[in-house]
Amino acid sequence: MTPIGTAVVCGAGAMGSQIAMLAALAGCDTTMVDVDQERLDSAMDQLEKRCARGVARGTLDADDVEAAFARLATSLDLDDAASGADIVIEAIVEDLGAKRDLFQRLGRVAPADAILATNSSSIVSSKLADITNPGRVCNMHFFNPALVMKLVEVVGGEHTSPDTVEAAVELAERMGKTPVVVRREIFGFIANRIVAAIFDEAIELLEAGVATVEDIDLAVTNGLGHPVGPFALLDLTGIDVNVGIKKLEAQETGDPSRGPATTLLDLERAGRLGRKTGRGFYEYGAS
Ligand SMILES: NC(=O)c1ccc[n+]([C@@H]2O[C@H](COP(=O)([O-])OP(=O)(O)OC[C@H]3O[C@@H](n4cnc5c(N)ncnc54)[C@H](O)[C@@H]3O)[C@@H](O)[C@H]2O)c1
Repeated sequence: MTPIGTAVVCGAGAMGSQIAMLAALAGCDTTMVDVDQERLDSAMDQLEKRCARGVARGTLDADDVEAAFARLATSLDLDDAASGADIVIEAIVEDLGAKRDLFQRLGRVAPADAILATNSSSIVSSKLADITNPGRVCNMHFFNPALVMKLVEVVGGEHTSPDTVEAAVELAERMGKTPVVVRREIFGFIANRIVAAIFDEAIELLEAGVATVEDIDLAVTNGLGHPVGPFALLDLTGIDVNVGIKKLEAQETGDPSRGPATTLLDLERAGRLGRKTGRGFYEYGAS
């Protein structure tokens, strides 16, 4: 198997920009593609600042960063960028229709053996793989912030070839990540399923009046060694985001009982969305 040398990352948002930087740092000639020039400019600006901080802190090497920026280009022209790619990693909006359109297009313009990976947190790649040579399609799920978080879940569906999984794992390792292979498609993959189960149990304990928000978080941080408790984490990621995930979980699993808990819906209705609104399970003062 030839190692991946040329990468295209679609989407210059929170995830795509950092995944593109990781690919460039891993030695790939990388093009970050977006539909919006301002997003591309802002992504490059953010990356420069973030990498400069990394160099100052000693977590990144100045020469490596300089070499990586020399390998990193931006483009609005997907067809041109993808035509020479060994891998395309998609990190555009979490919308099935938009992702399907993109994969159909990639199926036409990318080389027939290029790997097509989606960074989606909830859309499994079988929903995108009805193109020629579906064996090259997989999920490659990075965590936010991608430059920092070590885990990458490589998810192979029934359509995914073992070579594709192997190449995605190899690239993730070259990026300095810890890849894990998810052997079949399942909603939430591994890490998000486990954190969702913790959220569910924490909310159940709260709703049953077993303990307060503060004490449940203290039990998890002090008893289990987690860096942050479930309610603080729900506030950090956003109550609305978590309501959306639970609604999707109920829809994808066909089990309405897996929908959002009353407590989450009440907080959302009250506009208490967590840190971003200054109030959620906790009060944060003016945001
Ligand atoms: N944000 C997270 O914490 C996180 C974590 C893991 C995975 N993900 C997944 O990563 C993906 C991206 O999330 P994000 O938070 O970076 O989103 P974002 O909204 O920050 O960025 C999305 C970018 O995609 C661009 N875009 C939209 N349509 C496009 C197209 N057709 N071609 C090229 N670019 C296009 C937008 O202009 C935008 O810059 C989603 O699938 C999400 O599920 C997100």
